Amino acid sequence: MVENKEHNPSIKAEVKNLSFYYGSLQALKNVSLVIEQNKITALIGPSGCGKSTYLRCFNRMHDLYPGHRYEGEILLYPDGINIAGGGIDPIEIRLKNAMVFQKPNPFPKSIFENVAYGLRIRGLKNYHQIKERVERALLEGALWDEVKDRLHDPAFNLSGGQQQRLCIARALACDPELLLFDEPTSALDPIATARIEELMGELKKKVTIIVVTHNMQQAARVSDFTAFLYLGELIEWGKTEQIFTNPKEKKTEDYITGRFG
Ligand SMILES: Nc1ncnc2c1ncn2[C@@H]1O[C@H](COP(=O)(O)OP(=O)(O)OP(=O)(O)O)[C@@H](O)[C@H]1O
Ligand SMILES: [Mg+2]
Repeated sequence: MVENKEHNPSIKAEVKNLSFYYGSLQALKNVSLVIEQNKITALIGPSGCGKSTYLRCFNRMHDLYPGHRYEGEILLYPDGINIAGGGIDPIEIRLKNAMVFQKPNPFPKSIFENVAYGLRIRGLKNYHQIKERVERALLEGALWDEVKDRLHDPAFNLSGGQQQRLCIARALACDPELLLFDEPTSALDPIATARIEELMGELKKKVTIIVVTHNMQQAARVSDFTAFLYLGELIEWGKTEQIFTNPKEKKTEDYITGRFG
């Protein structure tokens, strides 16, 4: 693939002229954006502007619903495959580009089995290998110390913040390339939120992160790059510091200063 040969190693994904339709409703309009490797990119914008839609394009969540249509490309590096194109295995792409949602959504299984789930889907059968990967993922998800003595308890027994870290560990177990966070802390208290934000800072050493947030302070605290979406269009994106201190577009400025949205 030509893109692959010219690929810049600091780029994890390149979105080129991406449009997305729910039937006749166009939710994304010709969005182009670069996602930098081992950085956190925040997506901000008022409700309904297409943030979740955009995030879901990265792991083909939309394929679960009929009538959707993609135009344009999302090239995922280093392979340079177009994940918005045909011939993509949605199950594999969801392990590779794993999503963490607003409300923690553990499976009705034990803590251990939640984290082992994706490994089993991938066909890993050796119990010792599974156990090792589960432990590693729980450590990376900053949950190990709190659950190591009760791995076989139901995941639902955990607190909301712990459940969210479990969902992050579940994603990490399959060595994802991208972590997609959709308002990951909006259902959590400030302490649990701070733990997740701190964790994101650690995780970016290993994975590339895209995070949707309504919380401007959170975007400013955790992200390296910020993209502002409005009515399905990308108005502006750049280094977070620049977007927050010196936005080029008036709409961006109005939004981050709380004049609308
Ligand atoms: N499954 C769906 N079917 C049809 N239209 C949808 C669907 N999901 C979202 N939309 C529409 O697409 C547009 C973008 O929605 P999206 O959920 O991406 O916004 P958002 O920026 O994530 O908003 P919020 O901040 O409220 O979560 C909206 O007009 C929404 O009504
Ligand atoms: Mg949303």
